[in-house]
Amino acid sequence: MKRVRTITALRATLSPIRSAGRRVALVPTMGAFHDGHVALMTAARHEADLVVVSLFVNPTQFGAVEDLARYPRDEATDARRADAAGVDVLFAPSVEEMYPPGFATTVDPGPIARGLCGDHRPGHFAAVATVVTRLLGIVAPDLAYFGLKDYQQVAVIRRVVADLALPVTVRALPTVREPDGLAMSSRNRQLSPDERTRARSLYGAMQGAAALRETGVREPAALVAAVVEALRATGIAAEYVELRDAETLGAPGCGRPAVLALAATVGTTRLIDNIVLPATDWST
Ligand code: PAJ
Repeated sequence: MKRVRTITALRATLSPIRSAGRRVALVPTMGAFHDGHVALMTAARHEADLVVVSLFVNPTQFGAVEDLARYPRDEATDARRADAAGVDVLFAPSVEEMYPPGFATTVDPGPIARGLCGDHRPGHFAAVATVVTRLLGIVAPDLAYFGLKDYQQVAVIRRVVADLALPVTVRALPTVREPDGLAMSSRNRQLSPDERTRARSLYGAMQGAAALRETGVREPAALVAAVVEALRATGIAAEYVELRDAETLGAPGCGRPAVLALAATVGTTRLIDNIVLPATDWST
């Protein structure tokens, strides 16, 4: 696996591949790899001729300064995992390379970035949309891979790719979970043993709501309340719990699947998760 830090070096590496008509895949990441990241790399490896993983802890998408400072960084370990997953190029640029002097453009993804995490992390999705658009411009991949664990992020990126007519196919892969159901996240390593135990209830609470839906409960408010209550029982105050149309992220549409999404702070660590509930006649 080759490690490159500049746009010039990356383009020089990719140009012969592209002229030979080979398919290039990009997996954008912020590092601290776990099995969720590796699943994206493996899928890319199966589908493309050359796999580029970007590793860039994007400062603009973090709210509080402390959150950015706490974000785990271990490039050497990440490089070994990416290499083992069959990645060809690890693109690990500096902040200056990604945001050179004079950088001023931002990509505003519009209403899809409002609600859910968008309401609690002002500017976050514009920052994600901007950095991903720049990465797509740098790498110009045929395919780009994202995880559904960050459900609204995928919706934002699909919106941006469609609206700006970016010539890339977006692939969204299912959430990879720990054996007890907790969604894998780079932030999980910030949890104390007690917090880690309690964090199980995020997925457990959503599973409870899915079971309620199976028994015929159709009111979004009732399902949301069940999740909030299950979290509270383990001492976790939800930041939000919402049921939204799985595609538009608007109000649940009758006869359409819906996404049940939540964010909660466990100790001092903010975690998110979601599950998709099958289509039904949601009573709104
Ligand atoms: P990061 O949190 O490093 O995630 C990189 C990719 O891995 C994202 O597409 C994310 O959805 C996916 N991912 C994370 N946990 C996962 C899991 N448990 N199962 C499946 N996929 C998972 O998301 C970002 O970085 C950044 O916002 C980025 C898109 C790189 C822009 O800076």
